[in-house]
Amino acid sequence: MEAGAEREEVGWVVALRRAQRRSRRHAIARYAQLATVEAGAPRCRTVVVRGVDAERGAVWFVTDGRSAKAAQLVADPRAEICWYFAGLREQYRLRGAIEPLEPAARQEAWEGLSPASRAVFFAPPPGTPRGEGDRFAETSEAPEPPACFRALRLVVARAELLELRPSPHERRAWVREGEGWVSTRLRP
Ligand SMILES: Cc1cc2nc3c(=O)[nH]c(=O)nc-3n(C[C@H](O)[C@H](O)[C@H](O)COP(=O)(O)O)c2cc1C
Repeated sequence: MEAGAEREEVGWVVALRRAQRRSRRHAIARYAQLATVEAGAPRCRTVVVRGVDAERGAVWFVTDGRSAKAAQLVADPRAEICWYFAGLREQYRLRGAIEPLEPAARQEAWEGLSPASRAVFFAPPPGTPRGEGDRFAETSEAPEPPACFRALRLVVARAELLELRPSPHERRAWVREGEGWVSTRLRP
């Protein structure tokens, strides 16, 4: 273990949940950037982080299995989420591998979506050229998700928090090691 490193509980989850609580009035605080890899090149887009799983040390989101990101994650499950809480001036960088939620959790995720969000999954495949005859429903009350619905979890292997409020800034990393985590305070 390097100098300055110490064992502790999943501190990044504690901090992240606190940030979520403090930002819950702001819908924008649920938006994070998800980076994937495509043939060695970076790809990045915004997703809604739907939940933080303290037990697994993971965060999860939903997406369309027909999307480019879904194909990229099948080919290479490595991903990183960069999540900035602007009101708190805290940045979380979560690195790890993607896996699907179990069927019951996937169903629960579907039921948690608004009718407008559900409708997206019945639209023509995303990212393909738009056709004259395309139809896009505005809402869906479907009780079951279509096959293209994906609920995915990023199982975090390394988390990093940068806090811009203190001076000097505070930077800390957590690396998964066996059953626990090793936390290190870093120079900002
Ligand atoms: C605020 C915001 C939230 C978004 N949330 C999601 C989301 O939760 N899941 C998702 O698949 N796409 C979401 N998108 C759309 C993606 O950013 C992206 O445009 C789309 O999924 C296609 O990405 P891909 O071609 O890399 O697969 C969101 C976009 C914005 C601007």
